[in-house]
Amino acid sequence: MINLGIIGCGSVMQGPYMEIINKYIFKKIVNLKSVSDSNIDFLPVLNKKFYFENFYKDYKKILQDNSIDVVLILTSMNAHSRIAKEALLSGKHVLVEKPMATNMKELNELMKIAKSSKKILIPAPFVILSPTYQAIDQELKKNNIGKVSLARARYGWAGPNWGEWYYKTGGGPLFDLGVYNITTLTGLLGPVKSIYAKSSLSSKYRKINKKNLKVKTDDNFQIILTFKSGCIGTVTTGFTMQQYNSPAIELYGSQGTIQMLGDDWEPKGYEIWRNSKSSWELYKTPYANWPWTSGFTHLIESLLKKTKPLIKLDHVFHINEIMIKIYESSKKNSEIKINSTFKSLKFQKKIKTKKSYLDHDRSHDGL
Ligand SMILES: NC(=O)c1ccc[n+]([C@@H]2O[C@H](COP(=O)([O-])OP(=O)(O)OC[C@H]3O[C@@H](n4cnc5c(N)ncnc54)[C@H](O)[C@@H]3O)[C@@H](O)[C@H]2O)c1
Repeated sequence: MINLGIIGCGSVMQGPYMEIINKYIFKKIVNLKSVSDSNIDFLPVLNKKFYFENFYKDYKKILQDNSIDVVLILTSMNAHSRIAKEALLSGKHVLVEKPMATNMKELNELMKIAKSSKKILIPAPFVILSPTYQAIDQELKKNNIGKVSLARARYGWAGPNWGEWYYKTGGGPLFDLGVYNITTLTGLLGPVKSIYAKSSLSSKYRKINKKNLKVKTDDNFQIILTFKSGCIGTVTTGFTMQQYNSPAIELYGSQGTIQMLGDDWEPKGYEIWRNSKSSWELYKTPYANWPWTSGFTHLIESLLKKTKPLIKLDHVFHINEIMIKIYESSKKNSEIKINSTFKSLKFQKKIKTKKSYLDHDRSHDGL
């Protein structure tokens, strides 16, 4: 049995993460030993919803417990890197929500510790684990749309009305939402050599937790990524988008086009145009219930099967460097070079795509 500790028991813990964790508890693979939140007002709610042995206000108590194998860090973003570092040094396997770090100093420190640790660090987001992402990756590797020259990605919404930290330095839609698009584009197209970004604040005040809050970080971003391959990509993200019906990801190649439908954290499938066929083909996702929390499944499976995770730290470092430099680019109004790089991601499993008329026959997440 794997003993689990969770640090940060807010919106994502109580909803999407516990949904997936409960399946492992039911199968007696995981035991939720301890949870921690600095806000003790949550305790009655947590007690009503979930079974766990200990609740701590101070997360260090979880790290000091030698019987705990895996720690999930689901706190506000500024706390991620500090707690992740301490958890690795305490000998825990770690899943940390995005972003891994919000400044270069903390990013470098965490990376150094993670690289010398024998424990697994899996940072969110987990978009590269989605079957739709991997099916698109296969299309690109088979050269089905030729050389990709242009790419577009978008993810946004009106923004949270909880969590004041979302609107302070180290919060904002880039670290919260744009991170998914940057992970998808770099995963599919390889490393970025430079970025240029514009960001702005749409409104000085927001109503958060029913109070008027002064916003301290930009909520509106247009970003240009220049890839080492020569491809030019854009990412549009903000707490300024009420709705959309456009593809999440668009890839324009010399022989065709691929569009990922839905959002990259919840893909609905993809469309591919090939000049050789002179028509569109629509592939709805064969795994309609793929959850964006699947990094948890991946971590547990990696531990049980003793396999290396598909999420590679060099890739995550690259994504975090890009995001931190986007703020710099917007402030200086200049193009910024990206120093880090990563090896192309490899997937063993062949994804079987089904044409949409077979879509009723869905596979669930295998649990
Ligand atoms: N809400 C979403 O839809 C969503 C989706 C995907 C990922 N995420 C990510 O999940 C993380 C949490 O988001 P959320 O919406 O659940 O936020 P939230 O504000 O609802 O919850 C965060 C919790 O962490 C606690 N916390 C902060 N610092 C702590 C510390 N040092 N020790 C113990 N507890 C601490 C807070 O008290 C709070 O209850 C963020 O990184 C966010 O980017 C959120």
